[in-house]
Amino acid sequence: MRVVILDNPQQVSLFAADRVDRLVRERLLVRQPLVLGLATGGTPLGLYKLLAERHRNDGLSFRGVETFNLDEYVGLPPDHEQSYHFYMHDALFRHVDFDTGANHLPRTWQCDLSESAKAYERDIEQRGGIDLQILGIGTDGHIGFNEVGSSLGSRTRLKTLTRRTRQDNARYFASIDEVPTMALTMGIATILESQSIVLMATGAGKARAVAGCVEGPISAGMPASALQLHPDVTVIVDTDAASELLHVEYYSDSERVRASLIR
Ligand code: GLP
Repeated sequence: MRVVILDNPQQVSLFAADRVDRLVRERLLVRQPLVLGLATGGTPLGLYKLLAERHRNDGLSFRGVETFNLDEYVGLPPDHEQSYHFYMHDALFRHVDFDTGANHLPRTWQCDLSESAKAYERDIEQRGGIDLQILGIGTDGHIGFNEVGSSLGSRTRLKTLTRRTRQDNARYFASIDEVPTMALTMGIATILESQSIVLMATGAGKARAVAGCVEGPISAGMPASALQLHPDVTVIVDTDAASELLHVEYYSDSERVRASLIR
């Protein structure tokens, strides 16, 4: 795993935006399709803002790029302000130039959920898989909505949300009772099939989860630790989120050496 520790959340967003920006422009140049995996939550908002700005001011185009989001709540219509359909439209899709039909989220409204989960896996496979998956992380180490105890071999499916996740996400709802109890989420195996993965985390509240993800034992009790099995993961964190990592000095040395080689 590459661990990049930066001073603040703005730098974390910038680092992630540069990575996405580079990949989008490279693929456009060689006219190859690109599939991005996208995440929701507070953490990637800065990234989406930067991508929208670069589209407006710097010629970054998303034509030919397709996206697959990690997850969607069950029980909220797509136009509900707290649905991830709404979030993505509001944070990114409406600001840039994706082709019509290029943005995919799991269907959870008025449909057969197990069929929908299978169709989502099929759709990803038909596009040749995800090239770059963006991830956030829950305070308990969940990725997507793969809660504690999620099988490391799991595929897109229905998951019950933990009380803690519902409490964490209650800040976006009028009360915790309004937070859905279930979601359709890509599985851990689905996520691990992406070509590359970027996990973003900021704030002291994520420190324990980040330490478990990067340095803990691989365990279904800490779903993000499964990323240790993937050959191309970059964990981008601010100093607060890095505060429980044991090997900070080594990660920083590695980045310095890498920078001196690239220069
Ligand atoms: C939700 C999402 C995750 C996200 C997590 C953390 O549970 N399903 O994909 O990583 O929240 O969100 P935040 O970035 O707001 O802390």
